[in-house]
Amino acid sequence: MTKIWAHRGASGYAPENTMEAFRLADEMKADGIELDVQLTKDGEVVVLHDEKIDRVSNGRGYARDYTLAELKKFRFSKTHPEYKDAVIPTLKEVLAYVKTTSMTVNIELKTGVFFYEGLAEKTLALVKEAGMEERVIYSSFNHYTIRDIKKSDKKAKTGLLYADGYIDMPIYGAALGVDALHPALYNLQYPNFLEDCRTKQLKVHVWTVNKEKYMKKFCELGVDALITNYPDKAGKIRDQLQK
Ligand code: G3P
Ligand code: MG
Repeated sequence: MTKIWAHRGASGYAPENTMEAFRLADEMKADGIELDVQLTKDGEVVVLHDEKIDRVSNGRGYARDYTLAELKKFRFSKTHPEYKDAVIPTLKEVLAYVKTTSMTVNIELKTGVFFYEGLAEKTLALVKEAGMEERVIYSSFNHYTIRDIKKSDKKAKTGLLYADGYIDMPIYGAALGVDALHPALYNLQYPNFLEDCRTKQLKVHVWTVNKEKYMKKFCELGVDALITNYPDKAGKIRDQLQK
């Protein structure tokens, strides 16, 4: 059965990567959440997508130029002003909450623009501290980061994020020893892609599936997870198909 993972939480309805969006994902019965992590000036792991806070908050500039305490003073409700109290969460806070639910967590390490020194190790440590190892899968567009995760913890579940025209991803993924491929939705690349992944025991987690016709297509194809801003819609479509 295709799992439904809420992209940055239920970000179609609430400010992305906030506790509000993660709580809503659980209310909408998502199987899991996807979130992005970066480091603050004082080395705290925070949940944030862009390197700058301008698009989502009333602050300006790079998150890494602020301490956690400084970042906490901004409101992260710019995209959904009705959630006026939304603030930036730490990974620790999100993990503590998710532990009270049955959801899984896809932690995406944002090391594409800044290669945050120590982010992989700190993230692994926080997951361990929260006792959430079994419910977390790590992903990144920066595959060196995934290699670092695997080096530090052989048992950590990992996925390779990519878009555009990468050749022979199932072969590459199997060679790196990851658990999953995370392709962009328009790019399952060739007709036997899913079969090749299955043969190599690679799971397929597709992002970001927001249109209903694609939700239906990927559920029918039986991908392992569909990452969406609208977990309620995707869940309904998946459940109808499986009746
Ligand atoms: O992890 C799937 C998706 O989140 C990757 O792209 O830019 O939304 O983090 P982005
Ligand atoms: Mg992401």
